[in-house]
Amino acid sequence: MSKPARRDGTPERDDSNRDHNRDVDSYISNARPARHQHVADRKPPKKAGASGGDGRKNRTQKADSEKVRLQKVLAAAGVASRRMSEKLIDAGRVEVNGSIVTEQGMRVDPENDVIRVDGVRVIADEDLVTFALNKPRGVHSTMHDEMGRPCLNDLVGDRIAAGQRLFHVGRLDAQTEGLLLLTNDGELANRLMHPSYGIRKTYLATVLGEVDRNLVRQLRDGIELDDGIAKADEVQIIDVWQGKSLVKVVLHEGRKHIVRRMLKEAGFPVQALVRTKVHTVQLGEQKPGTMRALNRAELTSLYNAVGL
Ligand code: URA
Repeated sequence: MSKPARRDGTPERDDSNRDHNRDVDSYISNARPARHQHVADRKPPKKAGASGGDGRKNRTQKADSEKVRLQKVLAAAGVASRRMSEKLIDAGRVEVNGSIVTEQGMRVDPENDVIRVDGVRVIADEDLVTFALNKPRGVHSTMHDEMGRPCLNDLVGDRIAAGQRLFHVGRLDAQTEGLLLLTNDGELANRLMHPSYGIRKTYLATVLGEVDRNLVRQLRDGIELDDGIAKADEVQIIDVWQGKSLVKVVLHEGRKHIVRRMLKEAGFPVQALVRTKVHTVQLGEQKPGTMRALNRAELTSLYNAVGL
């Protein structure tokens, strides 16, 4: 894989949403000077290491006495009970760092060893966390805003102050609400953002104008934008009423303001935009400004989607 693109980390200077800042006051109770924290400030991903090729072998390997029995790690990760995990090992379904393990009692390092069951990665490191944030409208997708506008730090600053390192996975523009992933796993963040993995994102756009099947065809065939053609993977007309429409757009690319620009170019300016899904992670009923930890199935799905 080519190295994930690095981003310049320049704070957004779009202040067109000053009025909306008022809307977000209700979500933000702990505003304080923000600390700059962004994935672009981190070192580039390391080359694949001996522990299974995920490029993250950057933590100290544990001494044998500190390692944990494989069946205990599998049970703690929610794969199966210890007894069932032993059966999985017996059946040759468990892999550690690329090699099938069939003997019982092997000790592993959950932080560094790459464990798979039936080829599917098990997230055994309890320190790796990923959150789904419903970013409210009016909040900038940066950890620091030089102009003092509402930003992510206002929502997650408590965790950062408590020492948790969190990267946001890409950005939503300030006017857009919805699902933004935050993780302390820099490699996961880099890969999820990298276009080569084609992570699909779903948006619900309220547009001015009554759309018809012609719009679906146009977006699917590709819309000519200043910086090249943009194609939607999927388009669905959800509703059309009194001069407006609700349209679902699924894409796997992440150019700035891509959905707004595509729809505007097609003649249907966006009035409101919400991101409802990233890969298999759904926003669901989560309220704006709230954050939840992803469950094991969601984590497994994300890590597998980017080959980790
Ligand atoms: N497309 C947009 O127009 N805005 C976003 O925030 C994301 C995709």
